[in-house]
Amino acid sequence: MSVTSETRAATGRTRADSPTGGAAGRSKRGASPRRGPEAPPAGADGASGPLPASAPRIADALEELAGLSEGGPGVTRLAYSPLERQAHELFASWMRAAGCTVTVDPAGNTIATRPGRSADAPALGTGSHLDSVYNGGRFDGITGVVAAVEVARLLAEAKIETEHPLRFVAFAGEEGARFGQACLGSKLAAGLSSVAELNSRRDRDGVSVADAMSALGFDPARAVANPWRPQDWAAFLELHVEQGSVLERGQISVGAVDLISGSTRLELTLDGQASHTGGTPMRGRSDALAAASEAVLIAEELALDTRHRGTRATVGRLEVYPGSITTIPGRVTLSVDVRDIDADRQRLTAAEIVRRVQAVCDRRRVRLDVRLLADTSPVVLPVWVRRFITTAASELDVSYRVMTSGASHDAQMINRITPAGMVFVPSRAGLSHVPEEWTAPDEIATGVQVLAAGLLRLDRDLTELAGRR
Ligand code: GLV
Ligand code: MN
Ligand code: MN
Repeated sequence: MSVTSETRAATGRTRADSPTGGAAGRSKRGASPRRGPEAPPAGADGASGPLPASAPRIADALEELAGLSEGGPGVTRLAYSPLERQAHELFASWMRAAGCTVTVDPAGNTIATRPGRSADAPALGTGSHLDSVYNGGRFDGITGVVAAVEVARLLAEAKIETEHPLRFVAFAGEEGARFGQACLGSKLAAGLSSVAELNSRRDRDGVSVADAMSALGFDPARAVANPWRPQDWAAFLELHVEQGSVLERGQISVGAVDLISGSTRLELTLDGQASHTGGTPMRGRSDALAAASEAVLIAEELALDTRHRGTRATVGRLEVYPGSITTIPGRVTLSVDVRDIDADRQRLTAAEIVRRVQAVCDRRRVRLDVRLLADTSPVVLPVWVRRFITTAASELDVSYRVMTSGASHDAQMINRITPAGMVFVPSRAGLSHVPEEWTAPDEIATGVQVLAAGLLRLDRDLTELAGRR
C-alpha cells in the first residue's frame, strides 16, 4: 500500500490536484476540531468554520460498537451475522434520534434519510460498513459509519437544511474475510452480484452468502433483483481509515482517494500423499505442505520483483491436513489474495502464481486444484468528486494529500451507481485488520469536518448546476 502511494506521490498529479500547489496540501497538521458551545456556527458550505465535530462523541460511538463482538482478541463481527445486524440496529437507533427515517434495503444495507428542501433532488450519501474481519479492529469501516452519524448529529444541532436529501448508509458484508468476496452489500446495491454468486461463496463452515442472508430474513433473489437506482443518487462520499502509513508518516490529516485497488482471490488445494513421518523415506514424498511452502514464497517473490512494483500478493490462510506431528501433510488448502491498481497486472500476477505453483506441484508429484474465490477490478474515482474533498480540506486549513487505496471499499461498488469519493484518516503505524488498529478520535473529528464540508459544498454546487436555486 505505501509503495503504491509513494509512487503516486511522485507523479506530480497530487500537485495539480492541490489548490495550494503542494503535493500534500497544507504541510501542517489539520485544524483541531472545535467542540462544545464555544464553537462558532458553521456556514452551510462550511466556509465560516468547521462544524464542531465532537471527538468524545465519536469515541463513545466506536466504543459502543466495539462491544458487539464475538469473544477473542479484537473485534469479530462477521459479514451477514446476527452481531452485524445488531450493529446495524444500533446505527438505526442513533439515526432516528438524529431525525432521520431509517430503512433497510433487500441486501441488508441500512439507509437513514434526512430529507432535503427539494422533493425531487437525488440524494447525497455517506457511510461505510459495520462488519469486521476475524479478530480485527474497531475502526475499519466503523469509522465511516460513525462519521456519518456525527455528520447527521451536527447538521441536526446546527439546524442546517440541505437542498438534496442526505442518506447515511451502513453497508452489509463489506469484509471478504468470511466469504472471500468483499463488498457484498454494496455490490448488490450496485447491481453487480448474482444469485449464483451468493450461492457459491461459502464460509469456512460451508455456509453460503445466500444461506447467511436467508437466516437473517433477507431474500437473496430479491436483493439481486433490486439494486439502487442511479437516478436516486447525486454523489457518495465514504470516510475510512487509511489502513496504511502514508498519512501518519507525512503528518497529513486526510487523504483524498484517486484509485481503489482491485483484488483477485484464489483458493489452491494441494493434494499429496499423507503417510508416516518416520517410516517414509525423505526422497519421493508427495508432501503437500512442502509444495504449499514454495507457493507462499512464489507469491511473495513475484510481488516483490520490479515488474510488480505496487502489486501485493499474500497467502493469508493455510490449512494443513491431517495436521498431525507424525503424519506427512497429505492435503493443504491455501488462499492467495492479489491486489493491484493495475487490473491487467492483477490478473496476470494471479495467473503467473498458478503457473509457477503448478510447476512445483508437478515436480513434487502433488495434484493442484484452483478455485477463483473473488475477482474485483480496481476503480478510478472521479476527479470532480475528489475536488470537493480537497477544496473542503483546503478551506478548513486541514492538510491533505491525494493517494491510492490498497484496500477494497464500498465506494468501489457504489461508484457504479453514483460518482463516489473517499476521505482517508490516518491509521496508527499503518496497522489494520488487527486488534491494534487505531485512529485518534481527534483525527476522525478532523476527517468528519472535511466530510461534512464536502457534502455541504456538493449540495450547494450541484443545486446551482441543476438550476434548482
Ligand atoms: C477490505 O477491508 C479489504 O480487505 O480490502
Ligand atoms: Mn473497510
Ligand atoms: Mn477491512
